[in-house]
Amino acid sequence: LTNIRDLFRNKEAYENKKITVGGWVRSIRNSKAFGFIVVNDGTFFEPLQVVFSETLSNFEEVQKLNVGAAVIVTGTLAPTPEAKQPFEIQAEKVMIEGASAPDYPLQKKRHTFEYLRTISHLRPRTNTFEAVFRVRSMIAYAIHKFFQERDFVYVHTPLITGSDCEGAGEMFQVTTMDLKDVPKNADGSVDYSKDFFGKPTNLTVSGQLNGETYAMAFKNIYTFGPTFRAENSNTTRHAAEFWMIEPEIAFADLEDDMILAESMLKYVIRYVLENAPEEMNFFNSFVDKGLLDRLNNVVNNDFARVTYTEAVELLEKHNDKFNYKVSWGVDLQTEHERYLTEEIFKRPVFVTDYPKEIKAFYMKLNDDGKTVAAVDCLVPGIGEIIGGSQREDDYEKLLARMQELGLKEEDYGFYLDLRKYGSARHAGFGLGFERCVMYLTGMSNIRDVIPFPRTVGNCEI
Ligand code: 4AD
Ligand code: MG
Repeated sequence: LTNIRDLFRNKEAYENKKITVGGWVRSIRNSKAFGFIVVNDGTFFEPLQVVFSETLSNFEEVQKLNVGAAVIVTGTLAPTPEAKQPFEIQAEKVMIEGASAPDYPLQKKRHTFEYLRTISHLRPRTNTFEAVFRVRSMIAYAIHKFFQERDFVYVHTPLITGSDCEGAGEMFQVTTMDLKDVPKNADGSVDYSKDFFGKPTNLTVSGQLNGETYAMAFKNIYTFGPTFRAENSNTTRHAAEFWMIEPEIAFADLEDDMILAESMLKYVIRYVLENAPEEMNFFNSFVDKGLLDRLNNVVNNDFARVTYTEAVELLEKHNDKFNYKVSWGVDLQTEHERYLTEEIFKRPVFVTDYPKEIKAFYMKLNDDGKTVAAVDCLVPGIGEIIGGSQREDDYEKLLARMQELGLKEEDYGFYLDLRKYGSARHAGFGLGFERCVMYLTGMSNIRDVIPFPRTVGNCEI
Protein backbone atom coordinates (compact mmCIF):
# COMPACT_ATOMS: atom_id res chain seq x y z
CA LEU A 1 0.00 0.00 0.00
CA THR A 2 1.20 3.50 -0.79
CA ASN A 3 0.83 6.19 1.87
CA ILE A 4 -1.46 8.99 0.76
CA ARG A 5 1.12 11.45 2.12
CA ASP A 6 3.58 10.08 -0.38
CA LEU A 7 1.14 10.60 -3.26
CA PHE A 8 0.80 14.27 -2.36
CA ARG A 9 4.48 14.82 -1.64
CA ASN A 10 5.72 13.08 -4.81
CA LYS A 11 2.84 13.45 -7.21
CA GLU A 12 5.03 13.58 -10.33
CA ALA A 13 6.41 10.13 -9.55
CA TYR A 14 2.93 8.63 -9.37
CA GLU A 15 1.14 10.42 -12.22
CA ASN A 16 -0.67 8.00 -14.55
CA LYS A 17 0.76 5.08 -12.58
CA LYS A 18 -1.18 2.31 -10.94
CA ILE A 19 -1.23 2.51 -7.14
CA THR A 20 -3.00 0.88 -4.23
CA VAL A 21 -4.07 2.70 -1.07
CA GLY A 22 -5.91 1.50 2.01
CA GLY A 23 -7.98 3.81 4.18
CA TRP A 24 -11.32 4.81 5.61
CA VAL A 25 -14.16 6.40 3.67
CA ARG A 26 -14.68 10.05 4.59
CA SER A 27 -17.56 10.68 2.20
CA ILE A 28 -19.35 9.06 -0.71
CA ARG A 29 -21.43 10.49 -3.57
CA ASN A 30 -23.29 8.30 -6.01
CA SER A 31 -24.64 8.90 -9.51
CA LYS A 32 -26.26 6.34 -11.71
CA ALA A 33 -23.25 4.95 -13.53
CA PHE A 34 -20.41 6.22 -11.33
CA GLY A 35 -19.54 7.64 -7.92
CA PHE A 36 -16.89 9.37 -5.80
CA ILE A 37 -15.44 8.32 -2.49
CA VAL A 38 -13.02 10.34 -0.44
CA VAL A 39 -10.51 8.11 1.31
CA ASN A 40 -8.18 8.98 4.18
CA ASP A 41 -5.44 6.70 5.50
CA GLY A 42 -4.20 8.89 8.37
CA THR A 43 -0.91 9.76 6.69
CA PHE A 44 -2.21 12.99 5.19
CA PHE A 45 -5.42 14.92 5.62
CA GLU A 46 -5.94 16.39 2.15
CA PRO A 47 -8.95 14.62 0.64
CA LEU A 48 -8.01 11.86 -1.79
CA GLN A 49 -10.81 11.46 -4.27
CA VAL A 50 -11.51 8.08 -5.81
CA VAL A 51 -13.75 7.85 -8.90
CA PHE A 52 -15.42 4.54 -9.54
CA SER A 53 -17.82 3.35 -12.20
CA GLU A 54 -19.90 0.44 -13.38
CA THR A 55 -16.72 -1.27 -14.55
CA LEU A 56 -16.13 -2.38 -10.93
CA SER A 57 -17.13 -5.97 -10.39
CA ASN A 58 -18.71 -5.02 -7.04
CA PHE A 59 -20.14 -1.66 -8.22
CA GLU A 60 -23.43 -2.00 -6.36
CA GLU A 61 -21.79 -2.98 -3.11
CA VAL A 62 -19.41 -0.03 -3.32
CA GLN A 63 -22.33 2.32 -3.95
CA LYS A 64 -23.86 1.13 -0.70
CA LEU A 65 -20.74 1.85 1.39
CA ASN A 66 -21.25 3.98 4.47
CA VAL A 67 -18.90 6.65 5.73
CA GLY A 68 -16.28 5.09 7.99
CA ALA A 69 -15.85 1.87 5.98
CA ALA A 70 -12.32 0.50 5.47
CA VAL A 71 -11.40 -0.02 1.82
CA ILE A 72 -8.43 -0.92 -0.34
CA VAL A 73 -8.44 0.88 -3.67
CA THR A 74 -6.34 0.05 -6.72
CA GLY A 75 -6.35 2.43 -9.65
CA THR A 76 -4.52 5.00 -11.73
CA LEU A 77 -3.50 8.39 -10.37
CA ALA A 78 -4.87 10.93 -12.84
CA PRO A 79 -3.96 14.64 -12.63
CA THR A 80 -7.00 16.94 -12.42
CA PRO A 81 -5.66 20.42 -13.25
CA GLU A 82 -9.12 22.08 -13.26
CA ALA A 83 -10.26 20.67 -9.93
CA LYS A 84 -9.49 21.82 -6.38
CA GLN A 85 -7.55 18.66 -5.63
CA PRO A 86 -4.44 18.05 -7.77
CA PHE A 87 -5.36 14.50 -8.78
CA GLU A 88 -7.83 11.66 -8.32
CA ILE A 89 -7.66 7.89 -8.40
CA GLN A 90 -9.58 6.18 -11.17
CA ALA A 91 -10.48 2.94 -9.48
CA GLU A 92 -10.14 -0.45 -11.10
CA LYS A 93 -10.77 -2.32 -7.93
CA VAL A 94 -12.32 -1.38 -4.59
CA MET A 95 -11.96 -4.07 -1.98
CA ILE A 96 -14.20 -3.72 1.05
CA GLU A 97 -12.01 -4.56 4.02
CA GLY A 98 -14.63 -3.70 6.61
CA ALA A 99 -18.06 -2.14 6.15
CA SER A 100 -19.29 0.62 8.45
CA ALA A 101 -22.65 0.81 10.19
CA PRO A 102 -24.98 3.62 9.07
CA ASP A 103 -24.87 5.24 12.51
CA TYR A 104 -21.13 6.10 12.18
CA PRO A 105 -20.84 9.21 14.37
CA LEU A 106 -18.51 11.21 12.09
CA GLN A 107 -20.58 12.59 9.27
CA LYS A 108 -19.40 15.12 6.72
CA LYS A 109 -20.43 18.20 8.73
CA ARG A 110 -18.16 20.04 11.16
CA HIS A 111 -18.33 18.60 14.65
CA THR A 112 -17.47 20.64 17.74
CA PHE A 113 -14.37 19.73 19.74
CA GLU A 114 -16.69 19.19 22.74
CA TYR A 115 -18.65 16.56 20.86
CA LEU A 116 -15.51 14.91 19.51
CA ARG A 117 -14.17 14.57 23.07
CA THR A 118 -17.08 12.22 23.76
CA ILE A 119 -15.82 9.90 21.00
CA SER A 120 -12.09 10.01 21.65
CA HIS A 121 -11.70 6.60 19.99
CA LEU A 122 -12.96 7.97 16.66
CA ARG A 123 -11.78 11.59 16.67
CA PRO A 124 -8.32 10.76 15.23
CA ARG A 125 -10.24 10.08 12.01
CA THR A 126 -10.97 13.82 11.62
CA ASN A 127 -8.63 16.27 9.91
CA THR A 128 -7.94 18.37 12.99
CA PHE A 129 -7.09 15.47 15.26
CA GLU A 130 -5.16 13.70 12.56
CA ALA A 131 -2.99 16.81 12.29
CA VAL A 132 -2.72 17.29 16.07
CA PHE A 133 -1.62 13.77 16.82
CA ARG A 134 0.80 13.52 13.93
CA VAL A 135 2.40 16.79 15.05
CA ARG A 136 2.40 15.59 18.66
CA SER A 137 4.38 12.55 17.54
CA MET A 138 6.81 14.75 15.59
CA ILE A 139 7.36 17.06 18.55
CA ALA A 140 8.24 14.08 20.73
CA TYR A 141 10.74 12.94 18.11
CA ALA A 142 12.23 16.44 17.77
CA ILE A 143 12.71 16.66 21.54
CA HIS A 144 14.56 13.35 21.64
CA LYS A 145 16.62 14.42 18.62
CA PHE A 146 17.56 17.71 20.28
CA PHE A 147 18.84 16.04 23.44
CA GLN A 148 20.43 13.03 21.76
CA GLU A 149 22.38 15.28 19.37
CA ARG A 150 23.80 16.95 22.47
CA ASP A 151 24.79 13.66 24.15
CA PHE A 152 22.16 13.83 26.87
CA VAL A 153 21.28 10.42 28.33
CA TYR A 154 17.58 9.51 28.30
CA VAL A 155 16.76 8.26 31.80
CA HIS A 156 13.63 6.28 32.57
CA THR A 157 12.54 7.42 35.98
CA PRO A 158 9.98 5.41 37.94
CA LEU A 159 6.27 6.10 37.88
CA ILE A 160 5.65 4.68 41.35
CA THR A 161 7.50 6.58 44.05
CA GLY A 162 7.51 7.34 47.75
CA SER A 163 8.35 11.02 47.39
CA ASP A 164 6.46 14.19 46.52
CA CYS A 165 8.88 16.19 44.39
CA GLU A 166 6.83 19.36 44.18
CA GLY A 167 5.59 19.19 47.77
CA ALA A 168 2.11 20.17 46.71
CA GLY A 169 0.45 17.01 48.02
CA GLU A 170 -1.38 16.50 44.74
CA MET A 171 -0.71 12.80 44.44
CA PHE A 172 -2.58 9.71 43.37
CA GLN A 173 -1.96 7.03 45.95
CA VAL A 174 -0.83 3.60 44.83
CA THR A 175 -2.00 0.77 47.03
CA THR A 176 -3.09 -2.86 46.89
CA MET A 177 -4.95 -2.55 50.16
CA ASP A 178 -8.65 -3.24 50.20
CA LEU A 179 -10.31 0.13 50.76
CA LYS A 180 -13.14 -1.56 52.62
CA ASP A 181 -10.81 -3.10 55.14
CA VAL A 182 -7.63 -1.05 55.50
CA PRO A 183 -5.24 -2.40 58.17
CA LYS A 184 -4.82 0.05 61.03
CA ASN A 185 -2.18 0.66 63.69
CA ALA A 186 -3.15 0.72 67.38
CA ASP A 187 -3.52 4.52 67.20
CA GLY A 188 -5.97 4.27 64.28
CA SER A 189 -3.55 5.38 61.55
CA VAL A 190 -3.17 3.30 58.37
CA ASP A 191 -0.69 0.43 58.73
CA TYR A 192 1.25 0.67 55.48
CA SER A 193 3.63 -2.11 56.54
CA LYS A 194 0.92 -4.47 55.24
CA ASP A 195 0.78 -2.71 51.87
CA PHE A 196 2.61 -3.89 48.74
CA PHE A 197 5.69 -1.73 49.23
CA GLY A 198 5.47 -1.61 53.01
CA LYS A 199 5.07 2.15 52.96
CA PRO A 200 2.82 4.81 51.38
CA THR A 201 3.48 5.25 47.67
CA ASN A 202 2.06 7.37 44.89
CA LEU A 203 2.24 8.00 41.17
CA THR A 204 5.07 10.39 40.42
CA VAL A 205 4.40 14.12 39.97
CA SER A 206 7.87 14.61 38.45
CA GLY A 207 10.93 12.53 37.61
CA GLN A 208 13.27 15.27 38.72
CA LEU A 209 14.63 13.88 41.98
CA ASN A 210 15.56 10.58 40.35
CA GLY A 211 16.79 12.48 37.30
CA GLU A 212 19.18 14.50 39.45
CA THR A 213 20.89 11.34 40.66
CA TYR A 214 21.72 10.41 37.06
CA ALA A 215 22.87 13.95 36.26
CA MET A 216 25.41 13.47 39.06
CA ALA A 217 26.79 10.54 37.03
CA PHE A 218 26.16 11.36 33.36
CA LYS A 219 26.39 15.19 33.62
CA ASN A 220 23.54 15.79 31.18
CA ILE A 221 20.36 13.75 31.20
CA TYR A 222 16.69 14.09 30.35
CA THR A 223 13.53 12.24 31.19
CA PHE A 224 10.44 12.04 28.99
CA GLY A 225 7.50 10.25 30.49
CA PRO A 226 4.07 10.46 32.04
CA THR A 227 3.50 12.31 35.31
CA PHE A 228 0.37 12.47 37.42
CA ARG A 229 -1.23 15.22 39.45
CA ALA A 230 -4.45 15.06 41.37
CA GLU A 231 -4.90 18.80 40.99
CA ASN A 232 -8.51 19.67 41.44
CA SER A 233 -8.32 22.40 38.80
CA ASN A 234 -10.74 22.05 35.96
CA THR A 235 -9.02 24.28 33.43
CA THR A 236 -8.05 24.08 29.78
CA ARG A 237 -4.37 23.68 30.81
CA HIS A 238 -4.44 21.02 33.50
CA ALA A 239 -4.62 17.28 33.04
CA ALA A 240 -4.35 14.63 35.76
CA GLU A 241 -2.02 12.59 33.54
CA PHE A 242 0.39 14.51 31.35
CA TRP A 243 3.84 14.00 29.87
CA MET A 244 6.85 15.93 30.98
CA ILE A 245 10.36 16.40 29.61
CA GLU A 246 12.87 17.06 32.38
CA PRO A 247 16.49 17.75 31.46
CA GLU A 248 19.03 18.06 34.25
CA ILE A 249 22.47 19.54 33.63
CA ALA A 250 25.52 19.41 35.93
CA PHE A 251 28.22 22.05 36.30
CA ALA A 252 25.51 24.47 35.21
CA ASP A 253 23.51 27.31 36.72
CA LEU A 254 20.21 29.07 36.09
CA GLU A 255 21.64 30.98 33.13
CA ASP A 256 22.70 27.73 31.43
CA ASP A 257 19.25 26.33 32.20
CA MET A 258 17.52 29.20 30.41
CA ILE A 259 19.83 28.96 27.40
CA LEU A 260 19.01 25.24 27.16
CA ALA A 261 15.26 25.82 27.46
CA GLU A 262 15.24 28.56 24.83
CA SER A 263 17.31 26.61 22.33
CA MET A 264 15.21 23.48 22.86
CA LEU A 265 11.92 25.30 22.21
CA LYS A 266 13.32 27.03 19.12
CA TYR A 267 14.74 23.77 17.80
CA VAL A 268 11.42 21.98 18.19
CA ILE A 269 9.44 24.79 16.56
CA ARG A 270 11.85 24.88 13.59
CA TYR A 271 11.69 21.11 13.26
CA VAL A 272 7.91 21.06 13.10
CA LEU A 273 7.64 24.04 10.73
CA GLU A 274 10.05 22.29 8.41
CA ASN A 275 8.71 18.75 8.64
CA ALA A 276 4.97 19.28 8.94
CA PRO A 277 4.31 22.32 6.73
CA GLU A 278 0.88 21.09 5.60
CA GLU A 279 -0.33 20.43 9.14
CA MET A 280 1.05 23.78 10.34
CA ASN A 281 -0.69 25.61 7.48
CA PHE A 282 -3.87 23.78 8.36
CA PHE A 283 -3.67 24.95 12.00
CA ASN A 284 -2.90 28.47 10.81
CA SER A 285 -6.01 28.49 8.56
CA PHE A 286 -8.53 26.64 10.71
CA VAL A 287 -7.43 26.70 14.33
CA ASP A 288 -5.40 29.82 15.10
CA LYS A 289 -4.94 32.50 12.43
CA GLY A 290 -1.82 34.09 13.87
CA LEU A 291 0.04 30.86 14.55
CA LEU A 292 2.71 30.85 11.85
CA ASP A 293 3.60 34.52 12.26
CA ARG A 294 3.90 34.02 15.98
CA LEU A 295 6.08 30.92 15.77
CA ASN A 296 8.33 32.49 13.13
CA ASN A 297 8.80 35.46 15.44
CA VAL A 298 9.66 33.16 18.31
CA VAL A 299 12.46 31.38 16.47
CA ASN A 300 13.94 34.66 15.24
CA ASN A 301 13.98 36.65 18.48
CA ASP A 302 15.37 36.34 21.98
CA PHE A 303 13.00 35.47 24.79
CA ALA A 304 12.35 38.31 27.24
CA ARG A 305 13.69 38.06 30.80
CA VAL A 306 12.45 39.60 34.03
CA THR A 307 12.81 38.81 37.68
CA TYR A 308 9.71 37.98 39.66
CA THR A 309 10.15 41.28 41.54
CA GLU A 310 10.23 43.26 38.28
CA ALA A 311 7.27 41.29 36.93
CA VAL A 312 5.25 42.13 40.03
CA GLU A 313 6.08 45.84 39.63
CA LEU A 314 4.92 45.73 36.01
CA LEU A 315 1.74 43.82 36.81
CA GLU A 316 0.73 45.86 39.85
CA LYS A 317 0.08 48.83 37.53
CA HIS A 318 -2.67 46.75 35.89
CA ASN A 319 -4.27 45.32 39.00
CA ASP A 320 -7.64 46.80 37.95
CA LYS A 321 -7.71 44.25 35.12
CA PHE A 322 -7.13 41.16 37.26
CA ASN A 323 -9.54 39.04 39.27
CA TYR A 324 -6.71 38.19 41.63
CA LYS A 325 -4.58 41.22 42.62
CA VAL A 326 -0.81 41.05 42.38
CA SER A 327 1.60 42.00 45.12
CA TRP A 328 5.07 40.79 46.10
CA GLY A 329 4.84 37.31 47.56
CA VAL A 330 1.78 36.04 45.71
CA ASP A 331 2.09 33.23 43.21
CA LEU A 332 1.44 34.44 39.67
CA GLN A 333 -1.88 33.20 38.30
CA THR A 334 -2.54 32.30 34.66
CA GLU A 335 -4.18 35.70 34.07
CA HIS A 336 -0.98 37.45 35.22
CA GLU A 337 1.30 35.14 33.28
CA ARG A 338 -0.69 35.69 30.12
CA TYR A 339 -0.78 39.46 30.62
CA LEU A 340 2.99 39.56 30.95
CA THR A 341 3.68 37.51 27.86
CA GLU A 342 0.75 38.65 25.67
CA GLU A 343 0.37 42.34 26.56
CA ILE A 344 3.66 43.52 28.04
CA PHE A 345 6.36 41.52 26.23
CA LYS A 346 4.42 40.00 23.32
CA ARG A 347 6.80 37.03 23.18
CA PRO A 348 8.00 34.22 25.45
CA VAL A 349 9.26 35.44 28.83
CA PHE A 350 11.52 33.92 31.45
CA VAL A 351 10.53 35.00 34.95
CA THR A 352 13.27 34.29 37.49
CA ASP A 353 14.00 34.52 41.22
CA TYR A 354 10.64 33.82 42.85
CA PRO A 355 10.02 34.11 46.60
CA LYS A 356 11.14 30.87 48.24
CA GLU A 357 7.79 30.41 49.99
CA ILE A 358 5.92 29.77 46.73
CA LYS A 359 8.47 27.36 45.23
CA ALA A 360 9.64 23.80 45.89
CA PHE A 361 12.11 22.76 48.60
CA TYR A 362 14.97 21.82 46.25
CA MET A 363 15.54 25.24 44.70
CA LYS A 364 18.79 27.08 45.39
CA LEU A 365 18.45 29.93 47.84
CA ASN A 366 19.68 33.27 46.44
CA ASP A 367 22.06 35.53 48.39
CA ASP A 368 19.14 37.78 49.42
CA GLY A 369 17.85 34.88 51.57
CA LYS A 370 14.32 35.59 50.29
CA THR A 371 14.24 34.35 46.71
CA VAL A 372 15.31 31.16 44.95
CA ALA A 373 17.03 30.56 41.61
CA ALA A 374 13.80 29.50 39.90
CA VAL A 375 12.67 30.13 36.36
CA ASP A 376 9.29 29.82 34.68
CA CYS A 377 8.94 30.23 30.94
CA LEU A 378 5.65 31.87 29.96
CA VAL A 379 4.25 31.90 26.43
CA PRO A 380 1.32 33.71 24.79
CA GLY A 381 -1.96 31.81 24.75
CA ILE A 382 -0.95 29.48 27.56
CA GLY A 383 1.07 31.01 30.38
CA GLU A 384 3.55 28.68 32.08
CA ILE A 385 4.96 26.07 29.73
CA ILE A 386 8.23 25.37 31.60
CA GLY A 387 9.14 25.41 35.27
CA GLY A 388 12.74 24.97 36.37
CA SER A 389 15.49 26.02 38.73
CA GLN A 390 19.06 25.73 39.84
CA ARG A 391 19.08 23.13 42.61
CA GLU A 392 20.30 23.64 46.16
CA ASP A 393 23.66 21.87 46.12
CA ASP A 394 24.71 22.73 49.68
CA TYR A 395 24.02 19.87 52.12
CA GLU A 396 23.39 22.05 55.19
CA LYS A 397 21.14 24.54 53.42
CA LEU A 398 19.10 21.79 51.79
CA LEU A 399 18.69 19.91 55.06
CA ALA A 400 17.62 23.10 56.85
CA ARG A 401 15.01 23.81 54.18
CA MET A 402 13.68 20.26 54.31
CA GLN A 403 13.36 20.47 58.08
CA GLU A 404 11.64 23.83 57.80
CA LEU A 405 9.05 22.26 55.50
CA GLY A 406 8.68 19.08 57.58
CA LEU A 407 10.02 16.69 54.91
CA LYS A 408 11.09 13.36 56.32
CA GLU A 409 14.85 12.92 56.07
CA GLU A 410 14.55 9.15 55.66
CA ASP A 411 12.49 9.58 52.48
CA TYR A 412 15.12 11.80 50.90
CA GLY A 413 18.36 10.16 52.04
CA PHE A 414 19.42 9.47 48.46
CA TYR A 415 18.82 13.09 47.55
CA LEU A 416 20.92 14.39 50.43
CA ASP A 417 23.68 11.92 49.50
CA LEU A 418 24.10 13.75 46.18
CA ARG A 419 25.12 16.81 48.24
CA LYS A 420 27.47 14.71 50.33
CA TYR A 421 29.42 12.83 47.66
CA GLY A 422 30.78 15.14 45.00
CA SER A 423 28.07 17.74 44.97
CA ALA A 424 28.12 19.86 41.83
CA ARG A 425 26.20 22.91 40.72
CA HIS A 426 23.24 21.73 38.68
CA ALA A 427 19.99 22.93 37.20
CA GLY A 428 17.06 21.60 35.22
CA PHE A 429 13.54 22.25 34.10
CA GLY A 430 10.29 20.53 33.24
CA LEU A 431 8.51 21.17 29.96
CA GLY A 432 4.84 20.25 30.00
CA PHE A 433 4.55 18.23 26.81
CA GLU A 434 0.83 18.85 26.24
CA ARG A 435 1.27 22.59 26.79
CA CYS A 436 4.08 22.48 24.25
CA VAL A 437 1.78 20.74 21.75
CA MET A 438 -0.89 23.37 22.41
CA TYR A 439 1.63 26.11 21.82
CA LEU A 440 2.80 24.68 18.50
CA THR A 441 -0.63 23.81 17.12
CA GLY A 442 -2.71 26.69 18.47
CA MET A 443 -5.16 24.24 20.05
CA SER A 444 -6.68 25.86 23.11
CA ASN A 445 -7.75 22.93 25.30
CA ILE A 446 -5.37 20.38 26.77
CA ARG A 447 -8.09 17.74 26.30
CA ASP A 448 -7.62 18.11 22.55
CA VAL A 449 -3.87 17.45 22.41
CA ILE A 450 -3.65 14.21 24.42
CA PRO A 451 -5.26 11.11 22.86
CA PHE A 452 -7.26 10.01 25.90
CA PRO A 453 -7.41 12.86 28.42
CA ARG A 454 -7.73 12.30 32.15
CA THR A 455 -9.17 15.30 33.94
CA VAL A 456 -11.31 15.78 37.05
CA GLY A 457 -14.30 13.48 36.70
CA ASN A 458 -13.18 12.11 33.34
CA CYS A 459 -11.34 8.87 32.70
CA GLU A 460 -13.05 7.37 29.69
CA ILE A 461 -11.46 4.69 27.52
O1 4AD B 1 6.39 23.64 37.23
P1 4AD B 1 6.32 22.17 37.50
O2 4AD B 1 5.45 21.72 38.58
O3 4AD B 1 7.83 21.72 37.69
C1 4AD B 1 8.27 20.48 38.04
O4 4AD B 1 7.59 19.50 38.11
C2 4AD B 1 9.75 20.40 38.19
N1 4AD B 1 10.06 19.17 38.93
C3 4AD B 1 10.40 20.45 36.84
C4 4AD B 1 11.91 20.38 36.91
O5 4AD B 1 12.52 21.34 37.29
N2 4AD B 1 12.50 19.27 36.54
O6 4AD B 1 5.88 21.43 36.16
C5 4AD B 1 6.58 21.58 34.97
C6 4AD B 1 5.66 21.83 33.80
C7 4AD B 1 4.81 23.09 33.93
O7 4AD B 1 5.53 24.23 33.52
C8 4AD B 1 3.65 22.78 33.00
O8 4AD B 1 4.01 23.04 31.65
C9 4AD B 1 3.49 21.29 33.16
O9 4AD B 1 4.69 20.79 33.69
N3 4AD B 1 2.39 20.95 34.06
C10 4AD B 1 1.20 20.47 33.64
N4 4AD B 1 0.74 20.20 32.42
C11 4AD B 1 -0.52 19.71 32.33
N5 4AD B 1 -1.30 19.45 33.39
C12 4AD B 1 -0.88 19.70 34.64
N6 4AD B 1 -1.67 19.42 35.68
C13 4AD B 1 0.44 20.23 34.82
N7 4AD B 1 1.18 20.58 35.89
C14 4AD B 1 2.36 21.00 35.40
MG1 MG C 1 5.49 25.35 37.88
